[in-house]
Amino acid sequence: MMLRKFLLIGCAVLVSGCGDSQHQIDSETGMVVRNFDESQIKRGETVYVANCAVCHGHNGEATSDWRKTGADGKYPPPPLNGTAHTWHHSTEVLKRTILKGGPPEFGSMPAWEGKLTEQQVDDVIVWIKSLWPDEIYDVWYKNFEGKE
Ligand code: HEC
Repeated sequence: MMLRKFLLIGCAVLVSGCGDSQHQIDSETGMVVRNFDESQIKRGETVYVANCAVCHGHNGEATSDWRKTGADGKYPPPPLNGTAHTWHHSTEVLKRTILKGGPPEFGSMPAWEGKLTEQQVDDVIVWIKSLWPDEIYDVWYKNFEGKE
């Protein structure tokens, strides 16, 4: 609940043009611009390469056939790079998916709780977001961040 309140306040501040530590508004285009900490992106990449690339591809590209189930009736690992569905989820939902994993009947996304620290999960999410094109990031932040 506190988190939700915080995010709402975060948005209000953003609309007024002040931004927060991770975001700024481009005054010319009105687009939300990422202001991520480079060292956090690097840490996230390390976590990703060691744990996620085997399924989701080295640059989060996975397979373009992510909408089709395989012979086992399960979905393949989707791209995380902004070409699939990942950017339709708030940070909170992405974090939960990574910590808890996917429903086993749906696909083979493992649960990372207990294997990765929360900090590592936060870092890997920042790395994933750093892959998204500017337009996608802008639409994501305005429509999905802070929502379920
Ligand atoms: C064994 C293969 C495998 C590994 C390893 C794996 N994933 Fe996944 N992941 C999947 C599959 C399959 C799905 C889609 C089906 C599901 O949600 O169960 C998925 C879904 C996701 C989603 C939701 C995507 C969306 O569009 O909603 C995210 C985010 C994600 N994975 C992140 C990660 C991260 C971060 C790691 C490493 C810490 C990781 N995955 C490691 C197989 C994997």
